[in-house]
Amino acid sequence: MNSLVRRSAQQLNLWRTYCVKHNAPEAASPGRNAGKPNYEEFIGRHQRRAQCSIVVQVSSEKSYAELYNYCSSFGSILGAHHYCVRQDETLHYILLEYATPSEAAAAIGAGVTNGELSGVPVRSPFLWFRAAGGGKRSPKLVPNPAPTLLSLDGTRLADQGHLLGLLRGAADIEEQVLQLHEHTRLNELGVRMRFLAALQVQQAIAGMFPAAQAQPFGSSVNGFGRMGCDLDLILRFDNDMGAKSSLEEAVPSRLVYHTKENLSNGRSQTQRHMECFGDMLHLFLPGVCHVRRILQARVPIIKYHHEHLDLEVDLSMSNLTGFYMSELLYMFGEMDPRVRPLTFTIRRWAQTCGLTNPSPGRWISNFSLTCLVMFFLQQLRQPILPTIGALTKAAESGDSRVTEDGINCTFTRNVDRLGFRSRNQSSLSELLLQFFEFYSQFDFHNRAISLNEGKPLSKPDHSAMYIVNPLEQLLNVSKNVSLEECERLRIEVRNAAWVLESEVENASVPEADGQELSWGLLNLFKHPEKAVIRPNMFFKPRMVEVSDLFEQKEAGATSSSTAPT
Ligand code: GTP
Ligand code: MG
Repeated sequence: MNSLVRRSAQQLNLWRTYCVKHNAPEAASPGRNAGKPNYEEFIGRHQRRAQCSIVVQVSSEKSYAELYNYCSSFGSILGAHHYCVRQDETLHYILLEYATPSEAAAAIGAGVTNGELSGVPVRSPFLWFRAAGGGKRSPKLVPNPAPTLLSLDGTRLADQGHLLGLLRGAADIEEQVLQLHEHTRLNELGVRMRFLAALQVQQAIAGMFPAAQAQPFGSSVNGFGRMGCDLDLILRFDNDMGAKSSLEEAVPSRLVYHTKENLSNGRSQTQRHMECFGDMLHLFLPGVCHVRRILQARVPIIKYHHEHLDLEVDLSMSNLTGFYMSELLYMFGEMDPRVRPLTFTIRRWAQTCGLTNPSPGRWISNFSLTCLVMFFLQQLRQPILPTIGALTKAAESGDSRVTEDGINCTFTRNVDRLGFRSRNQSSLSELLLQFFEFYSQFDFHNRAISLNEGKPLSKPDHSAMYIVNPLEQLLNVSKNVSLEECERLRIEVRNAAWVLESEVENASVPEADGQELSWGLLNLFKHPEKAVIRPNMFFKPRMVEVSDLFEQKEAGATSSSTAPT
């Protein structure tokens, strides 16, 4: 293990390059946050970019020159991205970004309805580019050179073969962790596409609700999203993103809107409204398909697929704590450049050993797992993250946020006010191993995890796993986790600690067939039955029998098939 503890000069260089590339504070002085956008600025910047953008379906990327030529007549185009959506056939799209929202609005306003089809004429940023000859407008030839068309995939996971090759070819585990993060995290196009999906909903209802905002939250915006993650969207009818202006506070208006009286209790009213929005999305919004209403859940949602963005969307109207929780996670991710790569690796590991599952059930969710990582980073002897309690204490008056149902989500939005400086210099591979060791010894039976306190508390009930909900401290984030799944997590973290420790102590060796080198994270991500057994592993005390693991796996598979989807 000592070989792991020493960080080589090469690793440090790699680390510094990574920090510069990601505009992150260096490991030597983590905790600084100067010059980076805070969450609201990040959201605001992307919302504006979405207002400047249109998505045009084309026959192929070869249409770009013609499209650019045509669309430049509405304003100056700053950027263009080409992406594909694969259905029965491959569909091509180009996202164009104008300099201003009014230019994008002019392009959208110039759209016409397709006379050959009998669709409802809905205006939205989703358009298609038809062959020349049908229109009256003759585009001016534009002398400016078109910005390079960037060909990216904003939705699909990177090619797995390519990723495995990168991990195999990395210099050490540290580099593997960084590569994994770099090649699986949601890219810039993916974020833009998600903000466009949000804008489409917002614009669709703007006539009746001009102050309504459809705001992305969750992994699409908290910096922990990977390519292909869903879009969590909350429709907010109030407009209290920040404090009210002092003029509005001092002189409240005497004109009050007449509104419809609530006919039933809050929850059934919300369900009824959501049903109605679900119908509207289904019937009118271009690209929206497979609309499902899940109205009996604790937080009622409408799920749909967006076929022009190849995106799954979960729309809610009453989960503002989720929105603020995303802000907390965003802040944690920004505070130290190790936080996100470490979390990505742990999430990937959990996925490969079947601890997490895309459908909800009795297993740990990605969100709960992320909370476990944050807590681990808080409770270290040299903490890498501050507690949420410290963030709350450092709040100023402008940080005050209370949800409609009275939940206090007040905490500082300026981490510099904390004066928190981590002196922890551990490398990513050290932290990864420490994470597995920490949870293999954690007393889930008696202790609860509190990110507010940054230390374990007594468990208030008999849930198998208890993670205090940071914003609603009487609730348990991991209430869904069954005893079997909690036990399986303990077994898997022990095995992972054991595999990783062996990886670190041994030089890389080729697999038995001698064809492909499998080492480091690649062995960690393997199913136990496929793991390479290194000679010295036989001398290590095995904490679990392989047969136990198979039994556990089968138990997991059974619960998976009976779980609600
Ligand atoms: P993936 O969708 O798996 O990529 O991760 P995610 O972080 O987006 O998780 P999910 O879609 O399940 O939840 C979306 C967001 O809602 C999370 O990021 C949290 O901010 C928030 N959230 C989810 N569950 C809870 C909870 O139990 N309590 C609170 N306060 N927030 C939650
Ligand atoms: Mg999500």
